[in-house]
Amino acid sequence: MTFEKRILCIGAGYVGGPTMAMIASQCPNYRVTVVDINPERIAAWNSDNLPIYEPDLDELVRATRGRNLFFSTEIERGIRENDIIFVSVNTPTKSFGLGAGMAADLQYWEKTARQILEFSESSKIVIEKSTLPVRTALAMERILNCRENGICFDVLSNPEFLAEGTAIRDLEHPDRILIGSRETDNGLKARQTLVDIYANWVPKERILTSNIWSSELSKLVSNAFLAQRISSINAISALCEKAEADVAEVSRAVGMDSRIGSKFLNASIGFGGSCFRKDILNLVYLCRQYGLDAVADYWESVVKINDYQQERFIRNMLGAMFNTLAGKRICLWGFAFKANTGDTRESPAIFIARRLLEEQAEIVVSDPKALKNARTDLTGVSGQIRYVEDPLLAAEGCHAIALLTEWDLYRNLDFKKIFDSMAKPAFIFDGRNILDHRRCFDIGFNVYPVGKPPLTHF
Ligand code: NAD
Ligand code: UGA
Repeated sequence: MTFEKRILCIGAGYVGGPTMAMIASQCPNYRVTVVDINPERIAAWNSDNLPIYEPDLDELVRATRGRNLFFSTEIERGIRENDIIFVSVNTPTKSFGLGAGMAADLQYWEKTARQILEFSESSKIVIEKSTLPVRTALAMERILNCRENGICFDVLSNPEFLAEGTAIRDLEHPDRILIGSRETDNGLKARQTLVDIYANWVPKERILTSNIWSSELSKLVSNAFLAQRISSINAISALCEKAEADVAEVSRAVGMDSRIGSKFLNASIGFGGSCFRKDILNLVYLCRQYGLDAVADYWESVVKINDYQQERFIRNMLGAMFNTLAGKRICLWGFAFKANTGDTRESPAIFIARRLLEEQAEIVVSDPKALKNARTDLTGVSGQIRYVEDPLLAAEGCHAIALLTEWDLYRNLDFKKIFDSMAKPAFIFDGRNILDHRRCFDIGFNVYPVGKPPLTHF
């Protein structure tokens, strides 16, 4: 079969895999190849046991793989045979040298650019799918266009806005697709090629085009705004606990103002995930580089409140449990950074588990999808840790339950049975405010939500 377009994606992670599966599904006349340096990841994408858990992803991959979607480790061949190349390699926070702990580590990104340059035998459109500091495209263009051999590269910015747990829905019905390009003839032509790909299933009015720097920056700013809302409501949750207000009632009242909106106002143990923290720190670093210290301080406070909220959760546990956790057994319900994913990157549960172990508590970790990652995250951490998938068995004999991920399955368990199996007095710390607190209290639990008055029997 001859395909109308041949598309390559470098980086088969949480973004590359699902995004390309969606393009392959919506555009059966395109051939889509996803390559990665990690052979195990590629083997998993080619197996029945995909490397990531995401609702509806299995079905999408099963319907397209081998038809017009291919996973491979042949990067060189992929570059040679495809003229449209998405790059969705990881861009973590730098852990060494200048900017350590703040700036984006662009080594994977630059290596990819150099590979594209080395193996290309024809002109290409190269698309930044990874989240990058503003003006990265300039560096990319300089690397790619450094040879005078008639091959030219047009660099586009096309940031990804999917959220884990809802990735397939977000990809199928995106709020917007953003495409940034140079405003030259070639840049505009390349931009149109990418618009045409998305136009196969995304309504035209949702495909937004812009200058390339605005596009790069909009991705960082979108994540910063989302995280800022969470830190704002979490900051208020601390005040609610002092003032005997209820943060859910406050967020409802505030969110009903149509200028503010109701989403992303759920108080919690803090945001996790691979991106919010790294992208805000990246923004902060950029601002400082440009000498905008007041702007940098403003955004950095979003991360500081997030750290504060996690530490506050531990302090509330300690305070409620008579100022000592030593020798007490605490069950963690949920380890993933949010529900409907097995991803634990930057999960608040990692911090909370470590802090509980520092206090010499024993912990029992429970999660329906994230136990494998939890084991890796806690490797080498000293203390008593058990992993039990069943939440009822996990809670047996424990002094307290800390609910850390808002999995639906925790909402309607047999709380009477759980209470009877626990050490007394039994505590629940609902870090996501998803349980029926009154019901748990009536059964006998001492209940500590976030940002609401506790319900205690003392
Ligand atoms: P990931 O770590 O899951 O995947 C990145 C993949 O790139 C890895 O499999 C890695 O082996 C591969 N890779 C690294 N260098 C390579 C190279 N030179 N050649 C081939 N493969 C290489 O990361 P992710 O979560 O998919 O994120 C990728 C980018 O997308 C990041 O910049 C992130 O900020 C952004 N993003 C992520 C999400 C999300 O929900 N995870 C959403 C939007 C944007
Ligand atoms: C986030 C953004 O929502 C995506 O648009 C973006 O593409 C992505 O980051 C990225 O760049 O990686 P994601 O991190 O997958 O997506 O998940 P979110 O739904 O944003 O949740 C992030 C964290 O915030 C989770 O820990 C979640 O539990 C927490 N959260 C979310 C709250 O504590 N309260 C809320 O009201 C909402």
